[in-house]
Amino acid sequence: MKQEEILELLNKMTLDEKIGQMIQIKVNEARNENKDLIYNVGSILNSVGAKNVKKIQSEYLSKNRLKIPLLFMADIINGYKTIFPSPLAQGCSWNIEVIRRIAEISRNESAFAGVNVNFSPMVDLVRDARWGRCFESVGGEDPFLAKIYAKIIVDEYQKKMNDNKLMQASCVKHFAAYGAVEAGREYNTVDMSKRELMEYYMPGYKSAIDSGAQMVMTSFNIINGIPATVNNWLLKDTLRKKWKFDGVIITDYTSMLECINHGIAKDEEDVAKKAIDAGVDIEMISTCYIDSLKKLVKENKISMAQIDEAVLRILNLKNKLGLFENPYGFADENMEKKYVFSLKNLEQATKLTEETIVLLKNKNNILPLNSNKRVALIGPYANNRAISSSWSIFVENENTKTLKEIFEKKLGKKNFEYSEGCKLLKKQELEQLLKVQPEEIRNNMEQYEDGDIQGVIEVANKADIIILAIGEHYLQTGEGCSRSNIEIPKIQQNLLDELYKLNKPIVAVLFNGRPLQLNNIENKLDAIIEAWLPGTNGAEAIFNILYGKSNPSAKLTMSFPQNVGQCPIYYNHYNTGRPDKTGSRYESKYIDIPTESFYSFGYGLSYSKFVYSNLRLDTNILKRNSKIILKVNVKNDSSIAGKEVIQLYIQDLVGSVVRPVKELKAFKKEYFLPYEEKEIIFEINEEMLKFYNENLEYKAEPGMFKIFVGTNSVETINEVFNLIKE
Ligand code: GLC
Repeated sequence: MKQEEILELLNKMTLDEKIGQMIQIKVNEARNENKDLIYNVGSILNSVGAKNVKKIQSEYLSKNRLKIPLLFMADIINGYKTIFPSPLAQGCSWNIEVIRRIAEISRNESAFAGVNVNFSPMVDLVRDARWGRCFESVGGEDPFLAKIYAKIIVDEYQKKMNDNKLMQASCVKHFAAYGAVEAGREYNTVDMSKRELMEYYMPGYKSAIDSGAQMVMTSFNIINGIPATVNNWLLKDTLRKKWKFDGVIITDYTSMLECINHGIAKDEEDVAKKAIDAGVDIEMISTCYIDSLKKLVKENKISMAQIDEAVLRILNLKNKLGLFENPYGFADENMEKKYVFSLKNLEQATKLTEETIVLLKNKNNILPLNSNKRVALIGPYANNRAISSSWSIFVENENTKTLKEIFEKKLGKKNFEYSEGCKLLKKQELEQLLKVQPEEIRNNMEQYEDGDIQGVIEVANKADIIILAIGEHYLQTGEGCSRSNIEIPKIQQNLLDELYKLNKPIVAVLFNGRPLQLNNIENKLDAIIEAWLPGTNGAEAIFNILYGKSNPSAKLTMSFPQNVGQCPIYYNHYNTGRPDKTGSRYESKYIDIPTESFYSFGYGLSYSKFVYSNLRLDTNILKRNSKIILKVNVKNDSSIAGKEVIQLYIQDLVGSVVRPVKELKAFKKEYFLPYEEKEIIFEINEEMLKFYNENLEYKAEPGMFKIFVGTNSVETINEVFNLIKE
């Protein structure tokens, strides 16, 4: 439709019809007392499937007076039916083509299944592994990665189709800084300076907005004492005015109603007024808008113009998606059958997943395994299909191959040993965990007794090497799953202790959403593969890494702490006045653990051996609007071809505010043949040196800078340069 036709449509709408556009409900709750779908509702949450979506849409349109189509919105953050690794794992690929391909397949599968808006990317910066939702963060603890990944994902989701209509709209979340919840406790308070917010937490969202994201989801937390969902500084002053966002703002699930619990509003009417004044267009699930907006307009407490503004943004989004011409969008049973979960997508999934798996330890190069060594595949994750993230809400786990099944397929049933060894959790721990889970999960959990350790020892004794598949329970990570203890469950530690007594090499494969505390088991392990929540073809990808069909190249985007007491921990920290340098008593440290992280940001091993040398700059003076050319030699000093992520960090040694000890400013992922040496080139310019000063001005300041180039944020070779005034 043309813009004037949209405006005409808006003018024909009654107030009830307008308010209806501003609410989002679940289709099973969309039946009013006489069991009919509410025919004015604007959008539906998490109803998918071409046939189902078309049925809902046609029933709705047959009754909707002005034939305004429904929007179908869903959470597809790591795939629809072909499930990819969790976003945190995806980010560990440091490969923009991996991020793009996953976004492309996720968009196509879900769009053919009728999804118009995808609640993704999630770019909340995460620094505290106690928080259950770390696994959703595609940028991890780094604002630079968040910026880059956000752009790639939004661009891919919102690729214009031939008639210049969107195939799918991106909704960036959770705005803002939800990952900074105090003590890593879910839905807890977030409180920080606006400078900290702009410097670290906002870049990912801004990048998504600058890339044209059509929707923003407000977060559950407060920002400077006011819940994001009713926060004028955040939504009006920053998002709308400063960032010029004219798309749709939607709340998170009942986050509007929750403002009463926050104590910022006395009742639903009060919070509805605050939300519409802040510029919120759609309320998800709760009914403050539908219960109060009409009264607020009648009593002149809000204006019809405010309602019209919100509804116009919603109609414009429906128009950009072409829904007025074709209300079914890209919902297409034939394409669904042909494309969704296709062999091609699955083959892609294996290759893409391999690039997300991080090799954390490889003592004496025990990996890659060769098939003349007999292995014993042991552990509660060895034959477990639940290896997709808890946001894989449309996954059909029965399609997910287990490690055991892949081993049988690749090695042959008789050519390796297997034992579950123990359950994921002790029975009473599982019961404790189930108490906080929704009914449908509680009822589906198989009840079990703790494992029989003795049986596993016999199995392990028949093998040369033990592959131990362990990790946190999938219900221990995700929304509502903050943990005060981030170790591998005790029952699994006991199993490891027993196996360790056999004096055989042990290779651990970890299945987890968040960084775990490994300092109490690492010394018993010869190798550690971080597989995260790898999704549909995760097991095959893990096998290919274990047996060297794929050379690991992933790098951590979130630091692993020494232990939970170190949380939050992140690489781009400030130096403090007493950095832990000399080991004296009076320095910034703990007296019972090292100060540095257990595994650092940017860390990840390879089967190849990369050597860095000859870092040089074409000049050590950077003038305004000029650039420095940096060159470094990187050699694959091994007989194994592989990819390396060459990372460039910069430290601003003196600033008008304290500056981090280093910040990622560029990276390149390069493929190397055996013994191949490459000259890697980076450009350094003034833009890379900008930051928010105390007046929130974003600018670079003259002075000395240090450059770090290397294979992670710790092992680097360094140089210095000077930014001068003129
Ligand atoms: C949830 C999550 C959000 C998700 C939304 C809709 O509570 O916070 O990430 O997109 O509800 O499912």
